[in-house]
Amino acid sequence: MNKFLLILLSSLLVSQGQKVAVAEALEATATIHGDRAQGTISKHIYGHFMEHLGRCIYDGLWVGEESSIPNTRGIRNDVIAALKDLNCPNLRWPGGCFADDYHWRDGIGPRDKRPERINIHWGGVIETNAFGTHEFLDLCEIIGADPYIAGNMGSGSPQEMRDWIEYMTFAGESELANERRANGREEPWKIPFFGVGNENWGCGGNMTPEFYSDLYKRFATFCRDFSGNHLMRVACGPNGGDDNWTKVVFSRVGGHAQALSLHYYTLAAPWHDKLSATGFGEDQWFGILRSTMRMDDILNSTEAIMNDTDPEIYRGLYVDEWGTWYQVEEGTNPGFLYQQNTLRDALVAGLNFHIFQKHHQRVRMCNIAQTVNVLQAMILTEGEKMLLTPTYYAFEMCKVHQDTKFLPVELETPEYKFGDAAIPAVSVSASRGDDGTVYVSFVNTHAHDSINLKCQLAGVDAQKVTGRVLSADSLDAHNTFDQPNQVEPREFTDVSLNDSTLSTTLPPHSLVVVTLSN
Ligand code: AHR
Repeated sequence: MNKFLLILLSSLLVSQGQKVAVAEALEATATIHGDRAQGTISKHIYGHFMEHLGRCIYDGLWVGEESSIPNTRGIRNDVIAALKDLNCPNLRWPGGCFADDYHWRDGIGPRDKRPERINIHWGGVIETNAFGTHEFLDLCEIIGADPYIAGNMGSGSPQEMRDWIEYMTFAGESELANERRANGREEPWKIPFFGVGNENWGCGGNMTPEFYSDLYKRFATFCRDFSGNHLMRVACGPNGGDDNWTKVVFSRVGGHAQALSLHYYTLAAPWHDKLSATGFGEDQWFGILRSTMRMDDILNSTEAIMNDTDPEIYRGLYVDEWGTWYQVEEGTNPGFLYQQNTLRDALVAGLNFHIFQKHHQRVRMCNIAQTVNVLQAMILTEGEKMLLTPTYYAFEMCKVHQDTKFLPVELETPEYKFGDAAIPAVSVSASRGDDGTVYVSFVNTHAHDSINLKCQLAGVDAQKVTGRVLSADSLDAHNTFDQPNQVEPREFTDVSLNDSTLSTTLPPHSLVVVTLSN
């Protein structure tokens, strides 16, 4: 069979969502610079986000103490174990859009006395408030994650916001601190991250950047540091690449904010006509990967604006919502944003980790949307059943980069062409841990070609290489409650180390992580 026919055949097989044939091997080269280590890749880049939306909190995390599903003080044990294995560094809560309609007093005190409210953003369902401040901060302590709380600026008051902070963090005797004690918590919590509003250009109040900036300063003035707690106050940043919002807000809020947020979702389709999470062909595989790579351009332009007024890079950029957004699964509530998660989503995660790591100087936190049962979830649940998604495994494999030093990589990659468009076939990111171990992750975006890669190691002292790979036969491979182990990491042996050259063949549509040690 000639090469053209082979490529055509393999493309057809891929577009039918069937087993993928390997058409050919492309060649790539790289140099990993252990001799030019840069700053720290914050572990918070691997952060998470859980909102009172659909079945994220209720069912997904919170089942209540009386549930037959094994739990710790109401929180599912299976989900706790899975999040612990991720080294989940932080959790953002309670929203999202929900945050600007959330009144924290609704979620404290005896559960049977908490008010029922309407969740106006997400399906109009009744919010029982069974999961509130104490339950959230308990979860953070159980899994060892830092809390990132989003305060209500859209429909709340500065007083409500400052009182919540005092309730949670004040160690002395005050009415609010004593109320916390009466509700079962003696010691204050540490709250390192606090968002002043969420998407205030949209669901958080439909404000102009000028109006938001002034209001931000009013609210932030009353967000105080009590009892040794140190808040990073996060101002609402742009919707994707809305540079005007960034310019106005970042310059106006100045030092009143320690960080600016940014939201960018991967859709590759019009908002009202989203793509399907499964059952797609190569066109949508390519479209989603290309669209997610826009994150790099968006960060470049946002950082350029931030550099104008903050050239020393004091203030951080937090991508506190990102991920894929597809049609909801058939038969589910459209307001619940429940979607399946395939190998494609794992590669989306890998590509974004690489982009965030490249921008590590300014990008110090990222939160994928969302942890359980919503959008690009790590975990799906159905009653007592739980499964780990391909995205979960991308986080689990790449967690080795957390709090390591960024190592620059020079890369010569072939293109992955589809129709008239092209994206790089290979993406690489490298880092070094405190003990000298070097971690390199690779994404091969190509639907059907493998990549022979020769990597020069400059200033890397290593004798041993081990690897793990995440891939599957079909592009939309995913885990289901009946078949929960379709996509899982495997040992990767197609990698060798000779003097200072790392040689590998990256399988098509794969994420590979290798560890270089002595
Ligand atoms: O993550 C779902 C929603 O997306 C969030 O509530 C909102 O902030 C964003 O628009």
